[in-house]
Amino acid sequence: MMLAEARLVQSSSLPRQPVLESRRSDDPGDHAVIPLSRAPSSTEVGGQTWRSPRALRFGRFRFVPHSRELTADGHPVLIGNRALELLFVLIEARGELVTKDVLLSRVWPTTIVEENNLQFQISSLRKAFGKDRDLVRTVSGRGYRFVAEIEPEMPGVRLETEKRGISQSGSVGGDPRPTYGSSNLPAPASDIVGRESHLSDVTALVAANRLVTLVGAGGIGKTRLAIELAHRLELRFDSVWVAELGSVSDPEMVQSAVAAALGLGAGPISPAAFSAFLGSRRLLLVLDNCEHVIDAAAGLAESLLHANASLQVIATSREPLRAEGEWVYRVPSLDVPPEGEDDLEAVLQHSAARLFLERTRAAEPDILLGAGVAAATTKICRRLDGIPLAIELAAARAAALGVEGLAARVDDRLGLLTEGRRTAPARHQTLRATLDWSYELLTESERVVMRRLSAFGGDFTADTASRSVAFGDVGSAQVVQSLTSLVAKSLVAADVADGTPRYRLLETMRAYAAEKLAESGELGTILQRWDRDGAAPVRVANRP
Ligand SMILES: Nc1ncnc2c1ncn2[C@@H]1O[C@H](COP(=O)(O)OP(=O)(O)OP(=O)(O)O)[C@@H](O)[C@H]1O
Ligand SMILES: [Mg+2]
Repeated sequence: MMLAEARLVQSSSLPRQPVLESRRSDDPGDHAVIPLSRAPSSTEVGGQTWRSPRALRFGRFRFVPHSRELTADGHPVLIGNRALELLFVLIEARGELVTKDVLLSRVWPTTIVEENNLQFQISSLRKAFGKDRDLVRTVSGRGYRFVAEIEPEMPGVRLETEKRGISQSGSVGGDPRPTYGSSNLPAPASDIVGRESHLSDVTALVAANRLVTLVGAGGIGKTRLAIELAHRLELRFDSVWVAELGSVSDPEMVQSAVAAALGLGAGPISPAAFSAFLGSRRLLLVLDNCEHVIDAAAGLAESLLHANASLQVIATSREPLRAEGEWVYRVPSLDVPPEGEDDLEAVLQHSAARLFLERTRAAEPDILLGAGVAAATTKICRRLDGIPLAIELAAARAAALGVEGLAARVDDRLGLLTEGRRTAPARHQTLRATLDWSYELLTESERVVMRRLSAFGGDFTADTASRSVAFGDVGSAQVVQSLTSLVAKSLVAADVADGTPRYRLLETMRAYAAEKLAESGELGTILQRWDRDGAAPVRVANRP
């Protein structure tokens, strides 16, 4: 089930406002500027950073998200769990329409139910609201909206924690555990572009699976998606922590890095110590950038999940963790305009183009948007496979070259896309660096196969690959094995929709692998061999 991708335009690069402000975009022609004010402002209490509201108030009602408690005028409202979950999902949408499909998948994540179950729960909710039943509005044939003015109750007032005998400073007799609601979740400096349907898909997965890994090519936006998701899920957890593993070079240090991220000191974290830290709290742990320490990350995720029933893990990695209970979500590229599209309004319907033009205009506000720029944007986004990192690097170049000048040179993507954000990690400074990061993690035979595959001009089957690139010291079984790993590692895209899977290298990967092939001096040998044996695939790239 997919939602149409919302049309979002970056509204500001300032930190977001405190929670739960909503702007409706009923007008279908509205290029909705939706302030995604999901990240609450942080508050220092007892040396801890508090980021979530403890409870939400609307009129005479008070709703505690993490425990799903609803009270009216201080008295508990007797209402079933499904209706409370429904209320939670409606509140989370900040006044926006929530479609029936989304409600069904969120409230009944593991079963398929008839729509009348949804109507029944909506009517229980309305009954519970009594004279305020109109807070839940029906949007005919589509879904529902929750229209209350919601006021977050920030820390500093008496909290649920006190009921459980934990003071606001979070200490019980010197217990070093952080308070409820503590988090190290970074507030993004700008709004996410596109991704609405992907966020709903992953949210549904997270509701049903305790370990979800966002997998995809370098720079495709796994971390950005995970952080956005964590913000949106924040109200469901007592605390949310992000452990960034990209800078950890030694697998032995993974445990310590996670412990440090959780504020548990510099030593390794044992499942037992983690359980003691966790207590009965519901915690969301984001293990970010795992691919280079994959075994250690998988082992740790598994043991923590075994030891703690109330833990949820979201991992990001260029390849799956292959851990027990893992559910993999392949993060797609941003949406690119069709070949040759030059109508600006049509181009802007596609998230890759919006990202490119927003970033370009942030660097050079005077760029005039016309048909030339629209067509050039289409070309740039397509040649860069809709990969956000490549698009951001391209936008940084557009200020100097102009959008059309950039489009004319975009085939030299590896030479051109070389100036990342100063504060970005080294692997995000250039397009080549992000591809090097993946290439360096490959085995020798995966490298050989990837290089040779770059000589293919289009898509191909496993049979074509093994016929055409198995020679010398790489046999056909090894080619198929390497092809499978290259798919797992997000370097080769696989289309398995029809009976026979078809494979292809994204353009950026092919350009990179072709460079490596040229460096290896093997291109001439391959082409000669293909000519001699008639083993050439239908289309051949890179023929000198
Ligand atoms: N949907 C988006 N909207 C706006 N910016 C985005 C989006 N997706 C990604 N970006 C930006 O693109 C860059 C790369 O994204 P990100 O770091 O999430 O990639 P990644 O897939 O985690 O890469 P890696 O495999 O190297 O860890 C970042 O600067 C990020 O902020
Ligand atoms: Mg990342």
